[in-house]
Amino acid sequence: GLVDITPLLLSRIRDVADYPEPGVMFKDITPLLADPAAFTALTDALATVAANTGATKVVGLEARGFILGAPVAVRAGLGFIPVRKAGKLPGATLSQAYDLEYGSAEIEVHAEDLSADDRILIVDDVLATGGTAEASIELIRRAGAEVAGLAVLMELGFLGGRARLEPALAGAPLEAL
Ligand code: PRP
Repeated sequence: GLVDITPLLLSRIRDVADYPEPGVMFKDITPLLADPAAFTALTDALATVAANTGATKVVGLEARGFILGAPVAVRAGLGFIPVRKAGKLPGATLSQAYDLEYGSAEIEVHAEDLSADDRILIVDDVLATGGTAEASIELIRRAGAEVAGLAVLMELGFLGGRARLEPALAGAPLEAL
């Protein structure tokens, strides 16, 4: 669009020091969600990314990717698919494990939600190390679908997620608003 929404979005993201542990600066998006002008501007911008990438469905990453991704799907006229932490989906799932700083995590998707015809836009609030996004890309590919792109509200550039994701994205765009 013609209007730069970055200042509006930034003004509605709250920095919380030492949360959830000492030394971490948490990016709290709840003020943005509570402001209809900011939430609508964000949803519209992400829906434009969905249209520009030719996405056929939106995948949201638990939990804040659900809050952002679901209205984007509706706005863009697309279906929504939740990628959940392990053990939450009742049907036949595909699972993908990935390493954390300490230990590992696992995400899942309903296999029947994804088909070979699908081009998926992945939506999340924050790209940090890129581990979650990388695992979700792998999950979508293993389900036989194509990744149209990854769209996030914020990218924490100092953590190097963009460089980490370059091989997995294989030319698909990474949009950080
Ligand atoms: C946060 C964030 C992303 C992920 C980014 O989710 O919402 O999904 O971490 O980190 P990464 O790039 O280093 O993988 P979190 O795991 O805190 O889950 P939640 O939204 O359910 O609290």
